[in-house]
Amino acid sequence: MRAGLAALLALALTRTEPLQAQEPAGAIVFKTCQSCHSLDPAKTGMAGPHLAGLKGRVLGSADGFDYSPAFRAARAQGLSWDDEKLKAYLADPDTIVPGGWMSPPAGFSVADRVAVADYLLSK
Ligand code: HEC
Repeated sequence: MRAGLAALLALALTRTEPLQAQEPAGAIVFKTCQSCHSLDPAKTGMAGPHLAGLKGRVLGSADGFDYSPAFRAARAQGLSWDDEKLKAYLADPDTIVPGGWMSPPAGFSVADRVAVADYLLSK
């Protein structure tokens, strides 16, 4: 009987969990990027460029950010962010912008990277 109750309780907890998680997974992952990045173009002076409107944005083109030579070269080539490039960049920045200043974000699963990329491309 007790085991049955515990199982029922476990089921209830599992079932209510998605209702309690109100933030999308990508927004939660993005919190770890916010020490360096903002989604507000007006917020300057951070370690990294703002990431607003990333979908279709030319690499290295945030106003007021002093990019590495690697990003400036990518901008000169007119490369722009899309789903594939962003996911590859987050897995290993050097594959997209060799020699740029951002370290590969550590400790994320593939699912985390997909979630944060989808989140940013929708902002
Ligand atoms: C320790 C600071 C730091 C953290 C944490 C960080 N970044 Fe960055 N990021 C940078 C810097 C610095 C650059 C610019 C690199 C350059 O100029 O070479 C950058 C560049 C970028 C760019 C290119 C933007 C553009 O204007 O083209 C993207 C996209 C990006 N970061 C995404 C992320 C995401 C997503 C996370 C979290 C998973 C993250 N970053 C975490 C410092 C950081």
